[in-house]
Amino acid sequence: MTKAAIIGAGYVGSTAAYVLAMKGLVDEVALVDILDKPTQGKALDIYEGTGVFGLDVKVKGGHDYSLIDGSDVVVITAGVPRKPDQKREDTLKVNAKIMKDVMSQVQAHAPDAIIVIVSNPLDAMTYLAAKESGIDKQKIVGMAGTLDTTRFKTFISEKSGVGPGKIEAMVLGGHGDLMVPLSRLATVDGKPLHTALSDEIIKGLEDRTRKGGAEIVNLLGNGSAYFAVGGAIYEVLEAIFTENGKVVPVSAWLSGQYGMTDLFLGVPCKLDKNGVQEIVELDLNEDELAALQQSGDAVKELIKELDSM
Ligand code: LAC
Repeated sequence: MTKAAIIGAGYVGSTAAYVLAMKGLVDEVALVDILDKPTQGKALDIYEGTGVFGLDVKVKGGHDYSLIDGSDVVVITAGVPRKPDQKREDTLKVNAKIMKDVMSQVQAHAPDAIIVIVSNPLDAMTYLAAKESGIDKQKIVGMAGTLDTTRFKTFISEKSGVGPGKIEAMVLGGHGDLMVPLSRLATVDGKPLHTALSDEIIKGLEDRTRKGGAEIVNLLGNGSAYFAVGGAIYEVLEAIFTENGKVVPVSAWLSGQYGMTDLFLGVPCKLDKNGVQEIVELDLNEDELAALQQSGDAVKELIKELDSM
């Protein structure tokens, strides 16, 4: 029996639950939120959808944390989304309080679970969750790189006319304006990205990727992205549950990799049922490494703020 729990049944949490259930990745999905009945309703609605695909997946929801007992993976989406005039970092204080409450419940009910943080500001919240719980740092990651990467791939696909399945690309760094889309290493149908698109167009795609979250926030007017987010959460859980060996960018604890220590930052990782199996060290050039470290510095500023709260 495999079980995934999702804390926070807002748009992100319930969409993630829907994708996990409809892909039949696990035997059971638990959805927990401060709201009880509406969460029961969302879980039941998702459960009723499994029949369409003939999937034997149980979906339960509510406000009681005992619902997450026995989970292999717990995904934390709880927190407030940013408003159109806010940066992800502006949600630090209020989401830090929520994260502390949530983590103490998660530790009480699913102490052995792998934790996947989705709440923003992502890398700082992952740090806080690890610090609060004292959990083995290999067992906790932040999900953002797979979201930023699917955005980047989609934008490349749109401009090049080549389907996203034939595009290899990765976005590293913190989940903020300083994230690092690795254009030099990206390929379109097996060929280097820069042979398919002009430097100017590539710069535009990088920029759009960095601002991808804000683009959706501004269009929605109220709330932040959740459909692509649900899929990107699935990708991380798929790597954990199936141990498919795929290298996925997640926010992981650095202890010297890429010349940085003592922070969570988006880097390529191999995941398995124990969490981070390996941090893959790509051969970055000087500029890429400097950009990654600059992004790391911004995350460290937020960590400092958290440590002084
Ligand atoms: C985004 C938010 C969820 O990037 O961080 O859309």
